[in-house]
Amino acid sequence: MKAEAPNPNLIVWFQNRFVRLAEANVNILTHALNYGTGVFEGIRGYYDEKQRDLFIFRGLEHYERWKRNCGVLRINVPPSALELCDITAELCRRNNFHTDVYFRPLAYKSSARIGVAADDNDAYAIVPVPFGHYYETPKGLKAGVVSWRRIDDTAIPGRAKICGAYVNSVLATDEARRNGHDEAIFLTQDGHVAEGATCNIFVVRNGKLLTPPVTDNILEGITRASIMELAHKELKMEVVERSIDRSELYMCEEIFFVGTAVEIAPVTEVDHRLVGGGQVGPVTQKVRALFQDVTRNRMPSYSQWLWPVYRNSLIEKTA
Ligand SMILES: Cc1ncc(COP(=O)(O)O)c(C=O)c1O
Repeated sequence: MKAEAPNPNLIVWFQNRFVRLAEANVNILTHALNYGTGVFEGIRGYYDEKQRDLFIFRGLEHYERWKRNCGVLRINVPPSALELCDITAELCRRNNFHTDVYFRPLAYKSSARIGVAADDNDAYAIVPVPFGHYYETPKGLKAGVVSWRRIDDTAIPGRAKICGAYVNSVLATDEARRNGHDEAIFLTQDGHVAEGATCNIFVVRNGKLLTPPVTDNILEGITRASIMELAHKELKMEVVERSIDRSELYMCEEIFFVGTAVEIAPVTEVDHRLVGGGQVGPVTQKVRALFQDVTRNRMPSYSQWLWPVYRNSLIEKTA
């Protein structure tokens, strides 16, 4: 994963206007910085050279989820999901992006004072960053089950992308990397497979595509939903949402992670055991190829999932 500091001259959306990233700063006492009371999103835009356009992938669904998630912390983001897509597209145009982009919307409790009680002072920002692949995965990833359990809905709801909850993912990733893995696998409190640190998980077992249900403390991923639909409709696979035992990871044919950042990431080793003989399996390959075609607008039947930046206006999209 590349982790360069973003260009300070990037144009971002902050305090209801377009400003340079270097000017988008908050007070050290900001509630969200001290107590984790923010809700973020991760969205990708895919550039296609041939079409000379940048496609925001499922922007509406991401912004709708963000607004719903903000409701958990009672953070108000006034614009509609449609308006937020339009701001995002305008950010791309102002930055003159002709590359793949990752968008980071962040809404937060913005009062700058001591005290955990939240008030109604909310703010939000959208930061676009040119971004390639999170993982270079031709050979597949090594994944490992970590000792940290996935946060439970009764503690902090994992289905909302709440900033403070990501300490769980940070600890898991740190442990996984130190143990020689690329990515962590979380179990739930009762020992079922939940997901990766920043991604959902799929397992191919006896030819069926399995993924944990949304009640197993996973983030309700938009990539996950897209892959379930694509596998069912395009690959004619049986897709089953059910709890998965840890030992099933050792006995399945294939494992792959999905998510906005990781996209489709094959897992060829789990807990130091080879998955599917250590090769990227055929289902993973097909799913990855499909996802690439869909996200770069090469499958017209899914173009409604894309928001084209350079040949689009709000009116056209809503008509
Ligand atoms: C914990 C967690 N699980 C799963 C995902 C994948 O969700 P999505 O596909 O909506 O990006 C993410 C990333 O957003 C995540 O942070």
